[in-house]
Amino acid sequence: MMFLQGQHVLSIEQFSLEQVRALFETAQKLEDVAAGKVTTRLLNGAILANLFFEASTRTRMSFHSAFSRLGGDISDTTGFSFSSISKGESLADTARVIAEYADVIVMRHPEQGSVAEFAKYSKTPVINGGDGAGEHPTQALLDLYTIRREFHKTGREVSNTTIAMTGDLKNGRTVHSLSKLLSLFDNMTFHFVSPNALPMLPSIVEKLQDAGHTVKFFTNPAKGIQGADVIYCTRIQQERLADSELQGSSDLFNIDKALIESNAKADAIILHPLPRDAREGAFDLCTDLDDDPRLKIFTQAANGIPVRMALFVHCLGLENEVGKDFQPAPWAKVK
Ligand code: NCD
Repeated sequence: MMFLQGQHVLSIEQFSLEQVRALFETAQKLEDVAAGKVTTRLLNGAILANLFFEASTRTRMSFHSAFSRLGGDISDTTGFSFSSISKGESLADTARVIAEYADVIVMRHPEQGSVAEFAKYSKTPVINGGDGAGEHPTQALLDLYTIRREFHKTGREVSNTTIAMTGDLKNGRTVHSLSKLLSLFDNMTFHFVSPNALPMLPSIVEKLQDAGHTVKFFTNPAKGIQGADVIYCTRIQQERLADSELQGSSDLFNIDKALIESNAKADAIILHPLPRDAREGAFDLCTDLDDDPRLKIFTQAANGIPVRMALFVHCLGLENEVGKDFQPAPWAKVK
């Protein structure tokens, strides 16, 4: 199915379930390219402008690897200090210029709405790599891709399941986009498990309820994860919080081995968009769970490559060309 050609990817709300399924079919076809087993020159000569004005490891590098694996080249900039934005250039001017330098643009920016603002002035497709506390549509797609694949292994579908989201649900853009995406399925149950100061946005709760889903709120993580098929953990988004915002909060929590062992379903899957905050005193998903087979966080991160490849392929209108020039990668044996 052809869709997305020449279009921006700004919000997860622009996708229908049919489009998501088509995108995942393309991602599936690209799995071996993503894993470095097979090569392709599909994007030979194309240029990606990878613009990251906010911290990133996975998103920036996986967009880069995805475009390179498809045979394209990357031109990138990281941080404000190395860009002309630090000389006072407007987003509009930067967009008009970079649109001439590239065939696709990925952008991450700390201000909500800034990527959409930039895209207004770009004739080249712009993919939102995260705009402040706003959205992270490509992360939601790779999260869903992971949930579907893991569920299929045990014969489960996404509809009629329960997802617990834990942590900073107010400022975390990944949980905003993923909630909206899961809303496309039937009869979902959402457990929003957060400290009182960091609740899921009321606008999203309303959307889910209007679509007929069940929404429950918890501050106690033990209760919140009970019955969940997916436990999606997030870190406290310190960079978006005022210093005093969590002062006096006594309901911050970790998701650790003891909690999971006593309360999680045996066939639950545990996800996290990463990074995990591993600093002393941070409240996040703990490393004592690393040997738990329910933990799928690294598979989830790896799934970013085929999903982002599929987005590039669809934005450039090449979905019917995938697979025509596949060659075994000569270096593949080494891994
Ligand atoms: C997330 C992000 O940047 O929103 N990371 C990511 O892209 N995988 C999550 C986070 O920073 O907490």
